[in-house]
Amino acid sequence: MTFLPNDPTTLAVIGCGQRGTTYAEYALDYPQKCKVVAIADPRPKTRDLFVRNHTLDRTLVFSTWEELLKASAETIKITGKRLADAVIVTVQDHMHCEVVLAFAAQGYHILCEKPMATSLQDCLDMEKAVKNAGIIFGIGHVLRYSSYNMAVTKVIRSGQLGNLINAVHIVPVGYFPFAHSFVRGNWKKESESCFSLMTKCCHDIDILCHWLSPATPARVSSFGSLQHFREEQKPPAAGAATRCLECPVEQDCPYSAKKIYLEPVSRGNIGRPASNLVDGIPDIENITDALQNGPYGRCVYESDNDVCDHQVVNIEYSTGATVSFTMVAYSSMIWDRQTRLHFTHGEIVGDMSNFTVTDFRTGCTTTHSPKTDGSHHGGGDLGLIRTFVEAVRTSNQGLLDTDVSEVLKGHLTVFAAETSRREGRVVDCAMFEEAVRAKLEM
Ligand SMILES: NC(=O)c1ccc[n+]([C@@H]2O[C@H](COP(=O)([O-])OP(=O)(O)OC[C@H]3O[C@@H](n4cnc5c(N)ncnc54)[C@H](O)[C@@H]3O)[C@@H](O)[C@H]2O)c1
Repeated sequence: MTFLPNDPTTLAVIGCGQRGTTYAEYALDYPQKCKVVAIADPRPKTRDLFVRNHTLDRTLVFSTWEELLKASAETIKITGKRLADAVIVTVQDHMHCEVVLAFAAQGYHILCEKPMATSLQDCLDMEKAVKNAGIIFGIGHVLRYSSYNMAVTKVIRSGQLGNLINAVHIVPVGYFPFAHSFVRGNWKKESESCFSLMTKCCHDIDILCHWLSPATPARVSSFGSLQHFREEQKPPAAGAATRCLECPVEQDCPYSAKKIYLEPVSRGNIGRPASNLVDGIPDIENITDALQNGPYGRCVYESDNDVCDHQVVNIEYSTGATVSFTMVAYSSMIWDRQTRLHFTHGEIVGDMSNFTVTDFRTGCTTTHSPKTDGSHHGGGDLGLIRTFVEAVRTSNQGLLDTDVSEVLKGHLTVFAAETSRREGRVVDCAMFEEAVRAKLEM
């Protein structure tokens, strides 16, 4: 009989921004399951908030992940034990690979935010490092763990509607969230993060592949571009203004930074997106300062963004099944994916909250409204951290229903789609992977 540990799983959070805070809330709500024992973040007020909320020992609070890694190496040397059972890697995309490689080498179990990394080389290196270390590995593909998507998956797997032949999936990013993240924010420039299909939608491609498995992507094609958030689209009446606070036509602009950040804060709404702009609690003063001096106050037509604001992807699977996928900035709907799944004997139509199941044989349609716990992504955020902690406690990667090699495959499909968009050709997925491995795994 194996005895499993009953003590809470201990976590170190690397990057205490929006995502790090979200996952760490699980420790506050379920202290018997896990505890945050160490953190790293360069922002002092952000660190202080974490220290207060999680009653952290100050000796385990660091300004950078490198400092935490160094302290961990010393602890391992002296005690033979790590500082925590697992690390939560919630720094920006381009840092994921370096951080994961370093902590995997020390034997930490790892939950890494999506995307796994921003280059093909880093994705391959991460897979290798995680496999070599033999650790539990989770990825921030939160969609898989939402009660809504788990209920959809259950209907697919039951086989009650026959074979899944075609999926149509739309990701409406939302007009102002797109301006926030992909025109002014962290994901605006490919050289600083990655192309937008990767940064926004790698988990959509993941869930589509999950639903169609065991079929695998065979061929992919894609089109898309940056249409609107460009200098030549700037309204002439805006004149020489490069910031919303000095723009004469700001009131007529849906992307006005005043409307998106300042007005909500003046009404007492200090949550996202304004909270992303400052270290600590947003107020009129610090948000005004951010809009006067920082990237979030810039005119959306005068930013240094270059990622696509719309992209379509078609995938043909090994069984001949097909997927058509659209990501688009221009929607009033925010993030609520719209999905139609077409089977030989029925269909599923859903919107991330509710879905209907129609059986062609009976003509019956049933509506399903899976309960969520209120966490983001239809409960997917909580679902992922809960599953990861349990996988660590029980040393069971299988609970996550994926592993680093499958995560890599999904990312390869996203890179293949982007290659198709850039090169204007249909990409054969197996040949793409073979060429990538031949070039990079030397
Ligand atoms: N799964 C999802 O749906 C989802 C949603 C949003 C973001 N993300 C991903 O999550 C990650 C984090 O995004 P976020 O929105 O929380 O960003 P964020 O900017 O709010 O948080 C990142 C944090 O990392 C900190 N940091 C910077 N340098 C550091 C260093 N050297 N050592 C330690 N910490 C450092 C920053 O100060 C910041 O607090 C990104 O990779 C992003 O793409 C995933």
